Amino acid sequence: MSLNALEVKNLTKRIKGRNIVDDVSFSVEKGEIFGLLGPNGAGKTTIIRMIVSLINRTNGSVVIDNYNLDNNFSEAMSSLGAIVENPEFYKYMSGYKNLKHYARMAKESITEDRFNEVIKLVGLENAIHQKVKTYSLGMRQRLGVAQALLHKPALLILDEPTNGLDPQGIREFRDYLHLLAREGISVLVSSHLLSEMQLMCHRFAIIEKGKLIHISNMDETVSEEEVSVREVTFEIEELEKAVDLLANSGMEVDVISRKDSALVVKVAKEAIPLVNKLFVENQIAVYGIYVVKATLEDRFLEITNQKREEEIK
Ligand SMILES: Nc1ncnc2c1ncn2[C@@H]1O[C@H](COP(=O)(O)OP(=O)(O)OP(=O)(O)O)[C@@H](O)[C@H]1O
Ligand SMILES: [Mg+2]
Repeated sequence: MSLNALEVKNLTKRIKGRNIVDDVSFSVEKGEIFGLLGPNGAGKTTIIRMIVSLINRTNGSVVIDNYNLDNNFSEAMSSLGAIVENPEFYKYMSGYKNLKHYARMAKESITEDRFNEVIKLVGLENAIHQKVKTYSLGMRQRLGVAQALLHKPALLILDEPTNGLDPQGIREFRDYLHLLAREGISVLVSSHLLSEMQLMCHRFAIIEKGKLIHISNMDETVSEEEVSVREVTFEIEELEKAVDLLANSGMEVDVISRKDSALVVKVAKEAIPLVNKLFVENQIAVYGIYVVKATLEDRFLEITNQKREEEIK
């Protein structure tokens, strides 16, 4: 038994000789909100469609709440709730009647208590008996989540759930996801917005051109080790002399700016003490060394650019 709600291994989708999803592996822990981040056409929806069995896999395995899709298909599927395309509702029926209608198609019967629990969880108590056509987009999204949660899935999968929501709606939605996570439900969510993933997820994977190129933790922005080159400000005297010294040192240091007593350079982490040593040995007083920490945004761009450069080579 594993503590993961979802384990995806070597997931691949090949269409017309092209791998639109290429050997993707990741797992989502219990109670974790995990993001798939990637630009348009990266393969996020295709990954999700394979996990929820809307399309066949070319290769790879999917284990949901310890049930393998290949061996325990129906158990795996009943451990899952998903909104892949925009959920369709009957607009002239109330939210409640829509849920009831949906529940009639479910394998196991759903108790009245469970209906109320889910409605409360998504905050639709006051509107649930109104017709869906009177709902805002955000309310429809929440009704969709309520529907996906009815049968108590271990894992909730949402493809670009905040599309079309306004900032207030996005914020509310985010709060619901965190609430769900605290209840022990795991969530897999996709987006093409880094800032959104940053706020919404515990961890996320960057998907580009069908490949998973990075998995990052959301707790700390970027770990020290991850960023090899960084911007460093040296607070020193004799800036011109310092720049000349660097130019003739043979070290790989890019001067970004110099102003007053601040020399800003781009340099590998290992080279920071060497630059300091160079200055000190040449009688330049060093008053401070400040590392400008790379942000997640920088890291995201760094990773995707790096990949592009590799492809061009
Ligand atoms: N049935 C198909 N036949 C051929 N190509 C497909 C098919 N489905 C998807 N693709 C291609 O696979 C790539 C990935 O598509 P996918 O919809 O998974 O991306 P996405 O990350 O969800 O993008 P978006 O952010 O726009 O939703 C795209 O280039 C798309 O054109
Ligand atoms: Mg998509």
